[in-house]
Amino acid sequence: MDKRNMLMQIRGLTVNYGAINALNDVFIDIEKGEIISVIGANGAGKSTFLKTITGIVKARAGSIELEGKNIHGLRPDRIVRLGVTMVPEGRRVFPDLSVKENLELGGYTLRNGALKKELFDLVLSTFPRLQERLKQHAGTLSGGEQQMLAMGRALMGNPKLLLLDEPSMGLSPIITREIFTLIRLINRERGISIILVEQNAHMALEHSRRTYVLENGRIVMEGKSGEIKGTKSIIDAYLGV
Ligand SMILES: Nc1ncnc2c1ncn2[C@@H]1O[C@H](COP(=O)(O)OP(=O)(O)OP(=O)(O)O)[C@@H](O)[C@H]1O
Ligand SMILES: [Mg+2]
Repeated sequence: MDKRNMLMQIRGLTVNYGAINALNDVFIDIEKGEIISVIGANGAGKSTFLKTITGIVKARAGSIELEGKNIHGLRPDRIVRLGVTMVPEGRRVFPDLSVKENLELGGYTLRNGALKKELFDLVLSTFPRLQERLKQHAGTLSGGEQQMLAMGRALMGNPKLLLLDEPSMGLSPIITREIFTLIRLINRERGISIILVEQNAHMALEHSRRTYVLENGRIVMEGKSGEIKGTKSIIDAYLGV
């Protein structure tokens, strides 16, 4: 792989919670502009993986490089400023704040007012449903709208890399499809790289270029999503009818 195109390289990541080993010797890399997915069952370590990248959880061993510089060990707010933003599982919008206020909080790290305005306009054109609801309390939005708001808030920080933890969780198939179309749009129009973590293997394989399969904290398979989709063990374990 061409080093200049590399955005993030994760090597030998191992995370323990007390006696529980949540990640074991995980190697993952992502190129600039790429969408990759990490699929796995409940408890496989998917959220732990994203929380470790964002600095919320500390690894026991391993390294995380962003454009060749180690970011492991930096504080979470430093990592956000370097352009790595997570949309957590369950979205976590601020329910008592309006949609507009939630979005403004996403841009708090930016000093450049013109850029803030540009990003705000971008978010509203990407998610027109939010435009209609700017004054509405975020807690009264539907699940799909909250997911859009959480993604919009992340975009307001002008990220290079967006980490999405189960964006389809709790959403109907139609809204899930809409959300994934928007994920593709963000990637294509802004060139933002995306790590997509999902239990919904169908959607993750459909919408990513490469996929890693996580089982009990270990990567057990990786490759082009189209090829993984056709692998018998994957069909049996994750895509069964
Ligand atoms: N703060 C914590 N303290 C102790 N154990 C934890 C903690 N967070 C996660 N774990 C454990 O680590 C393992 C991986 O959890 P993680 O949340 O990363 O899984 P996941 O793949 O995101 O699962 P899900 O699909 O249910 O969200 C699980 O066994 C979980 O119980
Ligand atoms: Mg999780």
